[in-house]
Amino acid sequence: MSSQQSPDSRGMTIDAPVAEASATGRTVYTESLRRAPESVRSARRLVSSALRAWGLERLEDTAWIVVTELMSNAVVHARLSTVRVTVTRRDQCVVRIAVVDRSRRVPQSQAADLDDESGRGLAIVAALCSGRWGAVPLRRGKCVWAEVELA
Ligand SMILES: Nc1ncnc2c1ncn2[C@@H]1O[C@H](COP(=O)(O)OP(=O)(O)O)[C@@H](O)[C@H]1O
Ligand SMILES: [Mg+2]
Repeated sequence: MSSQQSPDSRGMTIDAPVAEASATGRTVYTESLRRAPESVRSARRLVSSALRAWGLERLEDTAWIVVTELMSNAVVHARLSTVRVTVTRRDQCVVRIAVVDRSRRVPQSQAADLDDESGRGLAIVAALCSGRWGAVPLRRGKCVWAEVELA
């Protein structure tokens, strides 16, 4: 088994493994993508592939919103040319979606005012994931992750 997770295992390093084998099949799906708007769709596809392989299609709607928000943030707010999206099956019912980018600025959920046209993405992620999201600084960037769970 390859293992390049960060020390606290809450985020992937920028050189995360492509796949980890287990008796039940792949538990990690990961892809390096251009930091560009069209990659958001590719990230959703990766999420779908993983969820279907794991028989967790019921998580798809929620997981799509989460990966869309995290990827969009990397596209809009990060820097340099690539990002890495990783989908990990944490246990039977829990899937972690993580996006590594090359900006060391760690995001914070903020309270958007009534008239604000932006600033709600991470609040939506936090709500969908029951607060299970976070950001882990890495040597050359950070990992923003969130976990979705079958009810
Ligand atoms: N990947 C990221 N890299 C750097 N800053 C980020 C990232 N994601 C979010 N942020 C910061 O956190 C703020 C809140 O993000 P979010 O709730 O998604 O709102 P929005 O993207 O609409 O501004 C952003 O405005 C930005 O300053
Ligand atoms: Mg956003």
